[in-house]
Amino acid sequence: MCLKKTVFFLICVSLTNCKQKPNIVLILADDLGWNDVSYHGSNQIPTPNIDALAYNGIILDRFYTQPACTPSRAALLTGQYPIRTGFQGFVIHAGENRYLPHDVKLLPEKLQDLGYNTNLIGKWHLGYAYRNVTPTYRGFDYHFGYWNGVIGYFDHIAEDEGLTGFDMRRNFDVMWSTQNQYATELFTTKAKEVIMNHNETTPLFLLVSHLAPHAGKRGVVYEVPDEAANNEKFWYIKDDNRRKYAGMVDELDKSVGKIIQALFEKGILDNTIILFMSDNGAQTVGPVQANSGSNWPFRGTKFTAFEGGIRNVAFMYYSRLKQKNVVYDGLMHITDVYPTLLGAIGENTNDLKLDGINQWNTLMQNGESNRTEVLINIDEVENWSGIIFDGLKLINGSGSFNQTLEGFYGDDGRNSSNPPYDPIKVLNSTANKALNSNLTEALILQLRNKTDIGNCRLDYDGNNCNEGKMCLFDLINDPCETTNVAYLLPDITIELSKRLSLFWNMLVPQKNIPYDPNSNPIYFNNTWTTWLDV
Ligand SMILES: *[C@@H]1O[C@H](CO)[C@@H](O)[C@H](O)[C@H]1NC(C)=O
Ligand SMILES: *[C@@H]1O[C@H](CO)[C@@H](O)[C@H](O)[C@H]1NC(C)=O
Ligand SMILES: *[C@@H]1O[C@H](CO)[C@@H](O)[C@H](O)[C@H]1NC(C)=O
Ligand SMILES: *[C@@H]1O[C@H](CO)[C@@H](O)[C@H](O)[C@H]1NC(C)=O
Ligand SMILES: *[C@@H]1O[C@H](CO)[C@@H](O)[C@H](O)[C@H]1NC(C)=O
Ligand SMILES: *[C@@H]1O[C@H](CO)[C@@H](O)[C@H](O)[C@H]1NC(C)=O
Ligand SMILES: *[C@@H]1O[C@H](CO)[C@@H](O)[C@H](O)[C@H]1NC(C)=O
Ligand SMILES: *[C@@H]1O[C@H](CO)[C@@H](O)[C@H](O)[C@H]1NC(C)=O
Ligand SMILES: *[C@@H]1O[C@H](CO)[C@@H](O)[C@H](O)[C@H]1NC(C)=O
Ligand SMILES: *[C@@H]1O[C@H](CO)[C@@H](O)[C@H](O)[C@H]1NC(C)=O
Repeated sequence: MCLKKTVFFLICVSLTNCKQKPNIVLILADDLGWNDVSYHGSNQIPTPNIDALAYNGIILDRFYTQPACTPSRAALLTGQYPIRTGFQGFVIHAGENRYLPHDVKLLPEKLQDLGYNTNLIGKWHLGYAYRNVTPTYRGFDYHFGYWNGVIGYFDHIAEDEGLTGFDMRRNFDVMWSTQNQYATELFTTKAKEVIMNHNETTPLFLLVSHLAPHAGKRGVVYEVPDEAANNEKFWYIKDDNRRKYAGMVDELDKSVGKIIQALFEKGILDNTIILFMSDNGAQTVGPVQANSGSNWPFRGTKFTAFEGGIRNVAFMYYSRLKQKNVVYDGLMHITDVYPTLLGAIGENTNDLKLDGINQWNTLMQNGESNRTEVLINIDEVENWSGIIFDGLKLINGSGSFNQTLEGFYGDDGRNSSNPPYDPIKVLNSTANKALNSNLTEALILQLRNKTDIGNCRLDYDGNNCNEGKMCLFDLINDPCETTNVAYLLPDITIELSKRLSLFWNMLVPQKNIPYDPNSNPIYFNNTWTTWLDV
């Protein structure tokens, strides 16, 4: 396979693992806030494993996603803007008959075609009305996890519209036996199993799609493995919910360490591309499943077009990156992951016809981004749309859930009540010890300083974005979106409006529908199931 092209032959002779395409491990956090990884400058929740991986690789500093779970996951797996598949609206409800179209080739399906062994651990949230829309029919050889948007961390029960049902499966088998195992630990164990049992004659694709640090079971919301130990560890966080949220993030960080260690023990770490990202910003406050995460200093939360909703934690590690320990400030969108990974494994991406752009060569060289524009979204039901072009953002309409959530929320985590940042913890982390790391204390602090945006909220002019109005923000000089410059720069506002208008032509109306009462778990031994196949 390698010998097909001379170019590849030349690369092959210099690589030890020539016959094997690189493995891909994608770790997806759920509702993790910008300020909830300590490499962005907060001292409140130390994330030494995540930080070590980020500092050793490429920090993707301007990585944009969709503002909510289902649209972001649709964009990730299709490489297309959600407006093309009708997935731009609200997330899929439990028992809602909605799924990705079958004529779109998903990333795992493509990787399967290319000989990858494909695995999903954790959350799906892209529909399950029929068997043939679930993960194992949409490109994954193996799935251990849940089909809905959220479950309890211990009871693995998903609740929506007053209906409750168990939601934990190994492929189609209902895994009652896992009940009471803390979800983050369970998914970590399963991810490690996939890695340790992997047959190296094929390359591995592993998507670890965590529940953490999303709010958990309704009514309980904040769940940690051991509350007493958590109170002791995060004693300095006075807010009860925030302290538990810190514990949820801490478990996520440990999981990252364990996964890196497993790759090391298996002997495949050097040949594995690792990508870490959050699907959207934290839901600090708000009507739907607030988790007390922090997007400080950004404005807004999940479900909004502000930076707090869509500019997210992301980084890549690969031992063979030519540039390491760098902060990449080029524009990147979650749809770019699909073609960029294909680029990384040597596939021609020119004919893919995706909205995503292959940024592999750019990342390898730390070059200029191939992307100048990001469609934030068009939500034709909530009546807002938005676009980023060249460091400017236009929001048409409220860009927010019913014109709420457009303020500033979340702890800065930088004051003296928090323990100082300890680079030794990063050097001493499980992840850093497994990596061929060249980090030093000085380098850690230097990189951390670069990704810390600092308090840019101070100039807030009290502006609101609402229906029938355009907001224009200069993201480079005003990353906190404090000042609406639409009236100062009418020509640019018109120019961006024109660019945004072009996207309306490709809009497929959103197909959100109410849940189907026939999906009620009481008919299926209290489980959520593929109810339209039964
Ligand atoms: C790995 O797969 C190859 C090819 O299918 C097979 O020959 C070999 O026995 C497998 N190894 C293990 C340990 O299962
Ligand atoms: C660490 O190593 C990578 C290559 O492996 C190199 O790009 C980077 O500059 C090194 N960093 C330092 C501080 O030496
Ligand atoms: C993206 O830009 C890099 C240089 O920054 C260039 O090497 C590469 O060919 C470009 N890729 C595409 C798909 O335009
Ligand atoms: C969106 O605009 C339409 C047409 O003006 C209106 O009927 C509808 O109520 C608006 N939707 C929301 C969520 O405000
Ligand atoms: C702005 O939003 C309104 C209401 O959703 C819509 O009718 C209009 O076409 C939008 N304009 C642009 C440039 O997107
Ligand atoms: C939106 O906000 C208005 C006023 O703030 C309120 O009357 C209305 O009920 C809200 N609608 C929703 C769907 O939350
Ligand atoms: C530090 O910030 C926290 C949370 O925002 C706040 O509760 C606390 O009072 C602050 N402590 C000091 C010493 O300023
Ligand atoms: C380094 O980690 C080990 C356990 O992995 C721990 O015993 C030791 O105290 C740590 N050292 C520092 C300086 O944090
Ligand atoms: C980063 O370092 C520079 C130079 O020491 C300093 O001026 C700046 O305030 C630091 N930035 C942050 C966010 O700490
Ligand atoms: C039904 O659910 C119970 C747990 O509530 C489980 O123990 C039992 O095995 C399930 N029965 C079947 C037939 O799946």
